[in-house]
Amino acid sequence: MDAIGMSRRKFAIELAALAGAAVAGCGRAAETAAKATSKGDGTAGRADAAMTVYRDPSCGCCEAWAALARDAGYRVTVVDRPDMLAIKTKYGVPTSLSSCHTAVVAGYTLEGHVPLAQVARLIETRPAGIRGLAVPGMPRGSPGMEMPDGTRDAFEVLAFDAAGRSRPFAG
Ligand code: CU
Ligand code: CU
Repeated sequence: MDAIGMSRRKFAIELAALAGAAVAGCGRAAETAAKATSKGDGTAGRADAAMTVYRDPSCGCCEAWAALARDAGYRVTVVDRPDMLAIKTKYGVPTSLSSCHTAVVAGYTLEGHVPLAQVARLIETRPAGIRGLAVPGMPRGSPGMEMPDGTRDAFEVLAFDAAGRSRPFAG
């Protein structure tokens, strides 16, 4: 029983497994997420775009990330979907980059716990050839995945294109 140990795993991204295993770690992260939010990270008031966050209903960290997006100024609608794989396919998320929730904003797809500062930069600069951003898996310490003990995994924000190719998105 080891929520932290579970979330430490590199997810093979079985959504069913995510729903069951990750949520324990996620739920805890959600409590601290509110405190670690939008203060002074430059994202507050950044955007007022409508954003839809699709998530499996059993995932708590998705809610934490959606709260961060709200704090950053997006008009967020959370939609519970049991068929998240279909959603990811529909919005062009490469399988290898899968995480828990999938968000859609300003014509872009956001997969997982993408920092809102990067989202703002994407929307603002609209670089060519980018379909969306992803933070694969569920790294501890990523936005919405804050750990009570402050543990942070190194993680990278990736940009992917319509053909499913990805590269680092410089923040
Ligand atoms: Cu998550
Ligand atoms: Cu999520």
